[in-house]
Amino acid sequence: MIMTDKMIYIHIPFCDSKCFYCNFCSSIYSEKIKEKYFLKLVEEIKLNKNKNANISSIYIGGGTPSSIDQKYIKKIIKQINENFNVLKNAEITIEVNPCSISENKFLQYKKLGINRISFGVQSLNNKCLKIIGRTHTKKQAINAIKLAKKCGFSNINTDVLIGIPNQNYYKLKNTIKRLIKLKVQHISCYMLINEKGTKLTNIINNKKVKIISEDKCVKYYNNIFKYLKKYGYNRYEISNFAKKNYECKHNIGYWQLKEYYGFGLSAHSYVDGSRYANTCNIQEYLNNEFGYNKEKLSCLEKVEEMIMLSLRTVYGVDVKALNGLGYDVINEKKYEIDFLVKNKFITYENDTIKICEDKFGVTNQIILKLLP
Ligand SMILES: C[S@@+](CC[C@H](N)C(=O)[O-])C[C@H]1O[C@@H](n2cnc3c(N)ncnc32)[C@H](O)[C@@H]1O
Ligand code: SF4
Repeated sequence: MIMTDKMIYIHIPFCDSKCFYCNFCSSIYSEKIKEKYFLKLVEEIKLNKNKNANISSIYIGGGTPSSIDQKYIKKIIKQINENFNVLKNAEITIEVNPCSISENKFLQYKKLGINRISFGVQSLNNKCLKIIGRTHTKKQAINAIKLAKKCGFSNINTDVLIGIPNQNYYKLKNTIKRLIKLKVQHISCYMLINEKGTKLTNIINNKKVKIISEDKCVKYYNNIFKYLKKYGYNRYEISNFAKKNYECKHNIGYWQLKEYYGFGLSAHSYVDGSRYANTCNIQEYLNNEFGYNKEKLSCLEKVEEMIMLSLRTVYGVDVKALNGLGYDVINEKKYEIDFLVKNKFITYENDTIKICEDKFGVTNQIILKLLP
């Protein structure tokens, strides 16, 4: 019998407040809805029972998983263990917000086998935090990280945003400097996307804040990359920096097209070569509408995904794997590849195309040139 290595993503769509920039599937719901939600989530997990699936990573994301009572997290992990074969060394991550965490919660998470904490920090500048509607302060974030360490967590990520209105390089660097001093093992740096329909767009349109130009953001990003490198944080993907051996297995799994189950509102799955997504409407989800829009990926779609995901990483894209899917990139994009290699945008060695270290700022433009 073939044992397959898969991953599980659990979506917790609850937050205590809505940040101004966020358009993730998350909202503020009553306790009654939360209870109903977890009953459905358990049902969905049971429906997909597969004891032959070796689970190498579980990612509990959101929303804000730390905003809910830990009894729900316990329930979900128990169900996953009962319905799948969770590997002993599986990476188990939970996303937490500095406002909604406590010593008791951390200790419970530890007991449940959670071994990686991902903090939504965004910034350690109180003015920046306020502009984007975060409800925690710099001090709360620092104390929460210290608490996680005190409770025995030694694999900690912190999310940081680049391009917060009114941010400057000095404020950004100070945030990173403090996180390095706190010895977190992993830092994700995301360029702030100004999502349509969010409160932030409104604030920007009303010219109430100073926006940071794209060019400036790329400059900040390149400087932060060098700064993190100096302190031993390696960039393994465009937005992700980690100390050696602390790269996130779950992230890497996505980029390597590993299969995964996604349970919960808006969660996506990629199982047995098919991709499908759950509804984003909570009432529909509570009415049992799991996994609609099932579609098998065509070879062309796999090629596109492989190029788009792999080129964002330092591991690059495997030309032989693309050939196996029927795309001879070396011949079909001969002119583009010659140009990109000659101008030091990419390297092509050992059947692998990689983006040059100083060209990650233009990854999207390079990807467009290599797509079929
Ligand atoms: C879904 S959130 C989960 C973390 C947790 N909810 C929190 O915010 O504390 C994951 C991360 O996505 C990033 N994110 C959310 N909205 C974004 C946006 N508009 N642009 C860039 N990054 C964003 C933030 O850095 C956030 O920490
Ligand atoms: S950024 Fe995180 S805490 Fe803020 S609304 Fe989005 S999911 Fe919730």
